[in-house]
Amino acid sequence: MKKLLVGNWKMNLNAADAVALSKAIQPSLDYDIVICPSLLHLSIVQSLINTSGIKLGAQNVSRETFGSFTGDVCAEQLKDIGCEYVIIGHSERRVKAEESNVEIHTKLQRALEVGLKPILCVGESLEEYKSELTNEILARQLLNVEYNDSLIIAYEPVWAIGTGLVPTNREIENSITTIKSIVNSPVLYGGSVSAKNSSQLDEISCCDGFLVGGASLKADEFNKIY
Ligand code: PGA
Repeated sequence: MKKLLVGNWKMNLNAADAVALSKAIQPSLDYDIVICPSLLHLSIVQSLINTSGIKLGAQNVSRETFGSFTGDVCAEQLKDIGCEYVIIGHSERRVKAEESNVEIHTKLQRALEVGLKPILCVGESLEEYKSELTNEILARQLLNVEYNDSLIIAYEPVWAIGTGLVPTNREIENSITTIKSIVNSPVLYGGSVSAKNSSQLDEISCCDGFLVGGASLKADEFNKIY
């Protein structure tokens, strides 16, 4: 299986920037490339990457199906416009939008029901890392998550996201091993992945790819990761 490289654009870029960036991203022989623009830009990006082999992902999904949920977008709608993947439980949603494990697991079900591939994010905070609670936190976040062919996990230590800090390869390997002992799915690493550190991170044999934030916003940088 090819490794997976996911670009999470978060709430960045206007439409013209999203178009330019989509056009500049190169397909790869070694990686399946997935880009996750804001909800607003999914359709326009989809129309540009359609024939390139680059896949489309969303950054979030409603826990509800169709209905009176103002402002929400459901899994069926994401699938309908061409999304293949959806990021679920990113730490920015767990912390800033106060999403609970229960809500995240409901979203996971919604995604799986319609045939989207969920990328479930898990990872410890700095305090938890310092208190050596990483394994416990991962087990808690993965409680009741069952193996599914389509499920992908992203190990993203919260303290490594957007900070330039990266755990050692050994630490990442330990966390991925813990995750795989609970749910035997492909596991990506995310947190300050860049063109500079990707070849070193690539040495982690149990790691099935990367989830990239900041470095996915510049084509030059993103294309150098693979
Ligand atoms: P980063 O973000 O690469 O900017 O650290 C990763 C993420 O939030 O998924």
